[in-house]
Amino acid sequence: MRAVDLKVKAEIGTPASALYVNEHAAEPRDPGEDEAVVRVHAFGLNRMDIMQRQGQYPLPPGAPATLGVEFAGTVVRFGPKKHCHGDHLEEGDKVFGLVVGGAYAEYVTVSRFLLAKYADSAVSFDDIAGVPETWFTATQALHMIAGVEEKRPQSVLVHAGASGVGIALIQIASLYADEIFATVGSPEKVQFVQSLGKSVGAKVTGICYRTEDFADVIKAATNGRGVDVVVDFVGKDYFTRNIDVAAVEGRIVMLSLMSGREVYGVQLGPLLYKRLRIEGSTLRARPLEYQIRLKDTFTRAVWPHLQSGKFKNPVDKVFSWHQVDKAHEYMESNQSTGKILCLVD
Ligand SMILES: NC(=O)c1ccc[n+]([C@@H]2O[C@H](COP(=O)([O-])OP(=O)(O)OC[C@H]3O[C@@H](n4cnc5c(N)ncnc54)[C@H](OP(=O)(O)O)[C@@H]3O)[C@@H](O)[C@H]2O)c1
Repeated sequence: MRAVDLKVKAEIGTPASALYVNEHAAEPRDPGEDEAVVRVHAFGLNRMDIMQRQGQYPLPPGAPATLGVEFAGTVVRFGPKKHCHGDHLEEGDKVFGLVVGGAYAEYVTVSRFLLAKYADSAVSFDDIAGVPETWFTATQALHMIAGVEEKRPQSVLVHAGASGVGIALIQIASLYADEIFATVGSPEKVQFVQSLGKSVGAKVTGICYRTEDFADVIKAATNGRGVDVVVDFVGKDYFTRNIDVAAVEGRIVMLSLMSGREVYGVQLGPLLYKRLRIEGSTLRARPLEYQIRLKDTFTRAVWPHLQSGKFKNPVDKVFSWHQVDKAHEYMESNQSTGKILCLVD
């Protein structure tokens, strides 16, 4: 089959121009009992792909060297079992999903329980390739870790609110919370997150962290109560203030550490007297059973809102996969404000 390969070794400094479509890559792995082979129609780009290209991403066990964790495509073949209990999939079905690696290819072999069935909807079949990584991550943070269905939050704070995951978080949080706060890096992004809030009928307060202290704004707006859920990607710079703005029995979900990973001089008292829970998480290295549960939660609680067009998943640019090098360069230029996708011919 054809697949995206590197002309040189994946190591620090390996440029995007090293990516190319290899016409004679290895054939897709034969599907096991509960697996399917999917003909990839489109794949989404993620920051970790750039890190992997540069040999900076520790691959989970069993991950192939080929890049790519999200795709849309058509089921072409199943493993020895034609039917699997509960998945209702047939050959020829349009699907989308996450995979531990290998989505930058003509075919990918994947657990059939990780596949979500695509149906005609407000999100096109091209664009759905950019949904799994960000939306499954946001579903994981709010549903599986913060438990928003069991314990509805009054208020949620989303850091990096205009990031891909932030955009998904704000929209999902709108189903559960009365008030959402979102930190962003510019006045334009403040406007963006507030209008995103309006589009889903939610009260979103954008806070530009360059000119305002989010802890002061939130404490003033909530009469000192704070927020029930914080979803953080920033780490070091926000750790103390996250604890400060968390309400009693608040939940802080940590998904990235973009400002650094070491914190000194933290007051631990509030952890006890506010009975806070702080939990970090990753997605790609999670066991298959967990990822299946996550996909099922997404399919039940979130997908209907994307399908109906209530939730939006902005796509910034679509490339042919023969220009995958240009797509990586574009992501690295930080100009995008939505997903970057590649179409596989
Ligand atoms: N743990 C997991 O399971 C998981 C899964 C997927 C993604 N992630 C992580 O989630 C993060 C968001 O991913 P994405 O694809 O949605 O990113 P993205 O769309 O590329 O957006 C990242 C945004 O974060 C903000 N930012 C960067 N450095 C910052 C800093 N030091 N302080 C404050 N804000 C900062 C910037 O926005 P502003 O201009 O507003 O500052 C930037 O545009 C990434 O770090 C990614 O690695 C984690």
